[in-house]
Amino acid sequence: MKKAIEWANEAKRAVEQRPIITVHDVVKKYSESVFALNGVSLNVKKGDWLTIVGPSGSGKTTLMNMLGGLDRPTSGSLVVDGTDITKLNEQELTKFRRERFGYIFQQFHLVPYLSALENAMLAQYFKNKKSNGQDNAAKALETVGLGHRLGHVPGQLSGGEQQRVAIARALVNKPEILFADEPTGNLDQKTGMEIMGLLAKLNAEGRTIVMITHDEKIAQFGSRMIKMVDGKVVKEWRKVSPLRGL
Ligand SMILES: Nc1ncnc2c1ncn2[C@@H]1O[C@H](COP(=O)(O)OP(=O)(O)O)[C@@H](O)[C@H]1O
Ligand SMILES: [Mg+2]
Repeated sequence: MKKAIEWANEAKRAVEQRPIITVHDVVKKYSESVFALNGVSLNVKKGDWLTIVGPSGSGKTTLMNMLGGLDRPTSGSLVVDGTDITKLNEQELTKFRRERFGYIFQQFHLVPYLSALENAMLAQYFKNKKSNGQDNAAKALETVGLGHRLGHVPGQLSGGEQQRVAIARALVNKPEILFADEPTGNLDQKTGMEIMGLLAKLNAEGRTIVMITHDEKIAQFGSRMIKMVDGKVVKEWRKVSPLRGL
């Protein structure tokens, strides 16, 4: 019996350690002189929280856009859960993104004249027009602590609350991977920490997170970190004692 439990735990760990994203030698050339990515290879494991740091212009956003299927590399492969997304056509890639990825940006990108609930419903609306989007969106807003603000439009919400609406929108389709590009870049430090607390909770529930930041305090969060310089990964480390919660 004890052995069986050990085996089960081992199998569980093996699944948790499975790479969900495998990047091989990705190059992104914007023009003859601009190589935004210069041959990047890395793995992201299921349940990891990968933090990407590096100076402005080092290729962080470009790398995230490649990982998240928002743009295509010039060469190299990007395998997400067994699928090389560089080989998908536009329609397949759009479907793949919608079903598996959620995005959070520095500028919250909310529609100003729609309520929190309607904003959170948007992603789902595009996924399946017949689905009961309202319930899912309301649940996602509750998850981010905004169950009491469903009817507010962005102008009636604080910056931190607007970012929570954006996170709720990212969560509505129940993505396996959340991509966050400078999610606290437009927030004060205290509010930024609250958003990190929320991401920590989502990561603890098993969601894989890929996050960009240039804020040292924010970079404390996550289980792994890579540093980019001139379109290359120059340093990579796993945190000994990951700071995942507050
Ligand atoms: N659409 C684009 N067209 C041309 N050059 C771009 C484009 N996007 C980014 N770049 C260039 O690629 C490099 C990396 O940019 P980016 O990935 O945005 O860096 P970071 O997010 O680390 O600040 C920069 O030199 C930038 O000017
Ligand atoms: Mg950037």
